[in-house]
Amino acid sequence: MGRERSSEFYDERAHKYDKKQASITYGPIYKKIVDIFDKEVSKDEVIYELGCGVGNLAKMLKNIGFKNYIGIDFSKEMIRRAEEKSHGYKFIVGNLIDEEIKDIYRKGKYFILMEVLEHINNDKEILSEIPSKSFVVVTLPSYSAKGHVRYFKKITEIRKRYKSLLDFENGEMFAIMNGKGKGKNIFIFKGRKL
Ligand SMILES: C[S@@+](CC[C@H](N)C(=O)[O-])C[C@H]1O[C@@H](n2cnc3c(N)ncnc32)[C@H](O)[C@@H]1O
Repeated sequence: MGRERSSEFYDERAHKYDKKQASITYGPIYKKIVDIFDKEVSKDEVIYELGCGVGNLAKMLKNIGFKNYIGIDFSKEMIRRAEEKSHGYKFIVGNLIDEEIKDIYRKGKYFILMEVLEHINNDKEILSEIPSKSFVVVTLPSYSAKGHVRYFKKITEIRKRYKSLLDFENGEMFAIMNGKGKGKNIFIFKGRKL
């Protein structure tokens, strides 16, 4: 397994997330998440995206009519790029582990955490700050990569790690292959925070 990285590591890689290759890799996952929100969440609700990166998902949510969005990421360069894409949306530079940042997302009810928890040692601490009964979509990878401190071979491993935090009994968990194929799955949980 890899080690947790600093915000500078992500600053240096931000440009890669704006490239065509990234949209091919993550395209099917973005589309799935946007479809879920389109069908299940009112366009007036405030969406909190933790580890929002360069704002690819934010732009898609804006395009389908979501008015209120708060994206948080500790990479200044990721946030700079996100702000350029979605005027009117709120983006905040900050570490999800910091108390003043927790104070911001403790107010949320609708959350997206796409490809972020596997980058953070204290992943459970972040999930535990999300208010109980919040609607959450969380994605996690089945493969190792630079910056991943963990990954999951099977859904049962995810259930085991997050069983006290996510309502697996009433939620859904499924795998979709990332756009590059090669057996690289992304697991998606959709449901409520316990
Ligand atoms: C793999 S990228 C995913 C970005 C975006 N969610 C997407 O799927 O396109 C992981 C993101 O998490 C952010 N990140 C990692 N650790 C963080 C932390 N402790 N606090 C805030 N953001 C963090 C990184 O800066 C990076 O933008």
